[in-house]
Amino acid sequence: MNEPVQREDPAAACGAHQPASQVSKPAATALPLSLDDYAARAAQVLDDNARAYVDGGAGDEHSLRANRRAWADWTLRPRVLRDLSQAHTRVELLGQNLDHPLLLAPVAHQRLFHPDAEFASALAAAAQGAGYVLSAQASVPLEQVANLVRHEAGRGPLWFQLVLPHDRGFTRALLARVASAGFEALVLTVDAPINGVRDRERRAGFRLPSGIRAVNLDGLPPHPAQAADGGGVFERWMASAARWRDLGWLLEQTHLPVLLKGVLHSEDACMAIEHGVSGLIVSNHGGRTLDGAMATADALGPIVQAVAGRVPVLVDGGIRRGVDVLRACALGARAVLLGRPQVHALACAGAAGVAHMIRLLRDELETAMALCGCASLDESHSVLAPTVRHADADYNLPSR
Ligand code: FNR
Repeated sequence: MNEPVQREDPAAACGAHQPASQVSKPAATALPLSLDDYAARAAQVLDDNARAYVDGGAGDEHSLRANRRAWADWTLRPRVLRDLSQAHTRVELLGQNLDHPLLLAPVAHQRLFHPDAEFASALAAAAQGAGYVLSAQASVPLEQVANLVRHEAGRGPLWFQLVLPHDRGFTRALLARVASAGFEALVLTVDAPINGVRDRERRAGFRLPSGIRAVNLDGLPPHPAQAADGGGVFERWMASAARWRDLGWLLEQTHLPVLLKGVLHSEDACMAIEHGVSGLIVSNHGGRTLDGAMATADALGPIVQAVAGRVPVLVDGGIRRGVDVLRACALGARAVLLGRPQVHALACAGAAGVAHMIRLLRDELETAMALCGCASLDESHSVLAPTVRHADADYNLPSR
């Protein structure tokens, strides 16, 4: 595979350093102005293999598209002439006070996109006070990521995401490494016991280039399904997939808070709380697993209502604008996670790109709050104006 073209700073990534004769506009306007700008630039610098992996969704990509559309369906009803001189975007999350509610979602195999890989995204998150969730399928050692950012003043939460490995001995050892490296919570992903049917990846013949692998899973014995002869999805893969009792087991193995990622149903949310999770992430894996899964903006409200404040509810999927963050918080999310935007910015400009991307979204969020007359995210629910599509929603908007 051709290595992705690497460019080291946002201005360079956008042609701002071209010779004067080739520059048709003032250089400043060449900087990405939005997360979608980063997506467009990334499409130019990533090869077909990496692009199919990042940008593709499952099946006909209905859920991928729905994630974006469903945020826009919530219109906003601003208030005017309020005193916003003390307004802020601060939130509290699992005992930590954060300057803003943005986290980077777990994204596997980041060396596909930039040689600095997860080091760059973790550093950018820390520099911008955003939370960082390292994927178990990261391409660099978890201890090195933690060492890089752990002592950074003003950083956000540092969490580790995993899908329960089939081997309990391996899992215990992994959990011990994660805890001693300084990660502060575990994120258990439950919506991807198997891969979705991803046509873009299949058409591109997606494969990990040699030298890129999930290094933190080295030593994990082969999955029993890989050794099994015959059988289909159920007999091979689902026979050893995680179940509720395994969540109970995980909670017994760790003193770290555990958040469940990939919940769309209120009953699952409540069951998870009964098991003892410390938080929930409403997610459909960015439309990469079950095509047709409901948009997260539609799933969020009912889950927040069912959870009734017992644990924080976070959300991801299709969040690309500050107004989307405001909508998510207005629907009761404590914080939001960004998946593809971090990859796009990483591919364009490494750590500088990711930091800039987070900054863009923070600025947009502040602008949206100012224009809505919203002094804090706690009072944001009052700015939501349900459209006709939400008129028959069988839940109440949260009052926090
Ligand atoms: C992901 N996602 C993901 N989730 C997870 O729990 N573990 C993982 O290793 C990965 N890996 C991964 C790779 C890539 C390339 C993408 C795009 C996504 C899902 C991710 O955490 C998140 O749920 C979605 O990406 C959120 O949707 P948006 O922001 O991409 O629309």
